[in-house]
Amino acid sequence: MKLAIGNDHTAVEMKNEIMAHLEAKGIEVVNVGVDTLESCHYPVSGYKVAKMVAAGEVDGGVLICGTGVGISLAANKVKGIRACVCSEPYSARLSKQHNNSNIIAFGARVIGIETAKDIVDAWVGAEFEGGRHQVRVDMLGEIEETQALAAAEE
Ligand code: RB5
Repeated sequence: MKLAIGNDHTAVEMKNEIMAHLEAKGIEVVNVGVDTLESCHYPVSGYKVAKMVAAGEVDGGVLICGTGVGISLAANKVKGIRACVCSEPYSARLSKQHNNSNIIAFGARVIGIETAKDIVDAWVGAEFEGGRHQVRVDMLGEIEETQALAAAEE
């Protein structure tokens, strides 16, 4: 498995710890985030990771900013991205099983490193279940593609 990781200045230490954690599990991690504490703009890393995921260059992405909110919003502007910000592992696991999330995000100012590790472990270890969930994920794609949803007109 190969993942891309991105972060802003609030999350350099957590990014490094999560990279080491993933690499220790045999996962290749491409770091496109920042490595200094100088204030920067979270959309840049969110966009970079999202483009790599959307292009199929990596199997998924991890994004970390202060809250996980801004960086996931940026990623979700890229077509084909389902980035989910989570503060606990249950939602992270379900985001893959039910929503086929392709990026997991969290906040370095919100959770501690052990919870962050639990979140990535839950997410990496989960599989999309398809079936009725595929229908709903397809609807997300329909909204993205057409700015409309046929099922909402019924
Ligand atoms: C940076 O101050 C902060 O706004 C950013 O890390 C993130 O939390 C935005 O959503």
